[in-house]
Amino acid sequence: MNVLVTGATGFLGQSLCHALQARGDFVLGLGSRDADLTRSDALEPWSNRRFDQIWHLAAWTQAGDFCLYHPGEQWLKNQQINTTVLTFWQRHQAQAKLIAMGTSCAYAPDRPLREEEYLAGEPIDSLYTYAMTKRMLYVGMTSLARQFDLRYLCLTPSTLYGPGYHTDGRQMHFIFDLIRKILRGKLYGEPVVLWGDGQQQRELVYIDDFIHDALWLGDHRENDLVNLGAGEQYSIRAFAECICEAVGYDAQRIQYDTTRYTGAKSKCLDVSKLRGLLPEWRRVPLSTGIQCTVDWFLGERERLLQPARAA
Ligand SMILES: NC(=O)c1ccc[n+]([C@@H]2O[C@H](COP(=O)([O-])OP(=O)(O)OC[C@H]3O[C@@H](n4cnc5c(N)ncnc54)[C@H](OP(=O)(O)O)[C@@H]3O)[C@@H](O)[C@H]2O)c1
Repeated sequence: MNVLVTGATGFLGQSLCHALQARGDFVLGLGSRDADLTRSDALEPWSNRRFDQIWHLAAWTQAGDFCLYHPGEQWLKNQQINTTVLTFWQRHQAQAKLIAMGTSCAYAPDRPLREEEYLAGEPIDSLYTYAMTKRMLYVGMTSLARQFDLRYLCLTPSTLYGPGYHTDGRQMHFIFDLIRKILRGKLYGEPVVLWGDGQQQRELVYIDDFIHDALWLGDHRENDLVNLGAGEQYSIRAFAECICEAVGYDAQRIQYDTTRYTGAKSKCLDVSKLRGLLPEWRRVPLSTGIQCTVDWFLGERERLLQPARAA
């Protein structure tokens, strides 16, 4: 198959491109240096190519409080990026299935995290713009598919983890932050202080599991929105203990700062639709996923694990 991947230089994009190539696809992977998708003509050089699938991963965002402080820019950039890709699909690639990434943040926190609720209610305030641009991407796909008889698939990932995350100093998703704090505690004797009481529950999907399911869905589903989650969640305390086990650090030494705000008590995608669709349900055990991620961290020690005073 001929496959175009936007966001190919990102955390998910790099692994996805490897997986597509490994199964024999011809992959054109684009990062922002190859094609700045905020420009409406960015994909013109490839308008005469015929792609079977377009995986649209590009998004302008980061973890932590990035969305809170960049709502205006996020609106403009992500709307421009998505419009460029949607236009390219409709005008030049009507034969291609567009497979785009949504977000679990698009769901209203007070409603069930089930696919039919994706556009219902209000997303959480701190992620509002990012969430709304993902909703608009979905609306764009469904609208174009309806009018122009196109094929799409929107996948809603929960937080992904695994080796190969960014090492450029940007804010990290919570699990990478936990690993970094505990490794620094182990390597440099720094105190390990986690926010909250550790009881808040979170869900993580190992990147290989995500890609395994996404590739299958990409080939077998169309004109659908599917949550792609882990199917279970753990407390922050449980994640921390798992990391301590992998690192060899005494979990009793971790301090919990209960004065700090830690967000929702629990957040887990409903994966009943996914379970009904997939021919097999497989998930890398948390301990294995954490161990691989810790090993990757240690391999990137120079960039990721400087002591706090030198970082
Ligand atoms: N990671 C998660 O846990 C998670 C969870 C839910 C949803 N998602 C979604 O999954 C997708 C991939 O996530 P990720 O973690 O791999 O993201 P990421 O690591 O931040 O990568 C983002 C990608 O978007 C590209 N990009 C940003 N601005 C661009 C522009 N103006 N023109 C062209 N490309 C641009 C980046 O290119 P450069 O690096 O070359 O600038 C990069 O390849 C995103 O849509 C994200 O919203 C991710």
